[in-house]
Amino acid sequence: MRTPIIAGNWKMNKGPKEAAELINALKPLVKDAKATVVVCVPAVDYAAAKTALRGSKIKLGAQNVHYKESGAFTGELSAAMLKEAGVEYVIIGHSERRQYFGETDETVNLRVQAAVEGGLIPIICVGEKKEQREAGYTDALVAYQTLIALTGLTEDQIKKVIIAYEPVWAIGTGLTATDEQANETIGVIRSAIQMKYGKRVSDKVRIQYGGSMNPKNVNGLMAQSEIDGGLIGGASLKAEDFAKVVNFE
Ligand code: 13P
Repeated sequence: MRTPIIAGNWKMNKGPKEAAELINALKPLVKDAKATVVVCVPAVDYAAAKTALRGSKIKLGAQNVHYKESGAFTGELSAAMLKEAGVEYVIIGHSERRQYFGETDETVNLRVQAAVEGGLIPIICVGEKKEQREAGYTDALVAYQTLIALTGLTEDQIKKVIIAYEPVWAIGTGLTATDEQANETIGVIRSAIQMKYGKRVSDKVRIQYGGSMNPKNVNGLMAQSEIDGGLIGGASLKAEDFAKVVNFE
């Protein structure tokens, strides 16, 4: 059995003061959570978040990591820096980074390798655009994105990564994939991992759904056999909403 994992992606929201407030409000609400709980906060919030997270099982996450150890990469952060700041999880290849910041499958793979080598757990985002789904390319695309992202990792490393299936058309739009669509595509991702690395590996990998997941639709999605958790944007910015998602039934 795979332990469910619910992660909040705060995106570019909340400075250190608001981060501490949100975490302090969240802590008592999720203290009995059965799922692994992660908050992926903006980099300026790591210190405040780390302090606020004391005494809770909620894990600290980042939203990106660079693939080099150090050097002339203005604005970037290395895995070692994140680790030292208390980060344990890192989102890689979010569709917003692919769309606005030129992230490619190849740079996603480099970042995944750097994260794993640096002792971080990557949350690797894959997903199709609306026109790609309509053209029938979803399965091939998500399988390809997933396998490229995992290139160079050992089987033991792959067992520990998190994949987030986020259909781009469902992000921030209020449109959610149906329970069946999400389950089916996540099944495709798991099969792709199984074909290349075997069932012992693919059975271990936790695969989240992301895209307008909220307190209203979480139970239906989490009841699906292939869905192991959620990557939550908007609904992670309010303690009550995020707690309801975390404490799904
Ligand atoms: P929303 O939950 O706001 O649709 O965002 C999903 C997402 O992009 C999480 O990474």
